Amino acid sequence: MKKDLGSVSAIFPMPVLMVGTYDNEGKVDVMNAAWGMMGSRKTVMLNLTETHKTVKNIKEKGAFTVGIADTKHIIEADYVGIVSGNNTPDKFEKSGLHAIKSKFVNAPVIEEFPVTMECKFIEYQNGENGCGVIGEIINVTADENVLDNNGQIDPSKINAILYDPFTHGYYKVGEKVGQAFSDGKKLDK
Ligand SMILES: Cc1cc2nc3c(=O)[nH]c(=O)nc-3n(C[C@H](O)[C@H](O)[C@H](O)COP(=O)(O)O)c2cc1C
Repeated sequence: MKKDLGSVSAIFPMPVLMVGTYDNEGKVDVMNAAWGMMGSRKTVMLNLTETHKTVKNIKEKGAFTVGIADTKHIIEADYVGIVSGNNTPDKFEKSGLHAIKSKFVNAPVIEEFPVTMECKFIEYQNGENGCGVIGEIINVTADENVLDNNGQIDPSKINAILYDPFTHGYYKVGEKVGQAFSDGKKLDK
């Protein structure tokens, strides 16, 4: 029997995205964002609260990066989601993470995360039903050790973590169990 749970966040899993920016002094900030997804094939949508330092930085610099958090860096990923650069100026130093400047946009690539999207800021959609930050992916940079023999990202090598909105847990991505746009053909006779 099914039970009604009311209006709760129930998309599972959600990603654990690491949004990297520079502030006006060139200082790095990173924040944790689970409310994010692909918009079109080349755009990302991040529902970021406007008061976060990250949003101020994105608007000022016109750029940001989005890294995929992995199992090796759960503590760092959570830390940047509970501390704000608005009131902790040395947030990034305290995280223990390291950054290099993106070759493509004015934003930092966090070295510890295996896959990073380098994005140009398009717009901030505010209002109750606005999507927040919309950005265009200019480049994706990935550690060599997460690529397959064809130079494509092998998801099983990322060791990505996922967020659960029910109990606020982090999970690791499990095994591959199917092939999209293919398995369903078995029923299309
Ligand atoms: C698991 C997790 C997911 C989060 N997802 C979001 C999100 O999608 N949008 C958002 O605005 N804040 C989100 N936050 C909160 C921000 O990461 C947090 O407020 C952070 O301190 C903002 O940093 P900043 O002010 O330095 O930019 C999340 C935090 C955690 C721990």
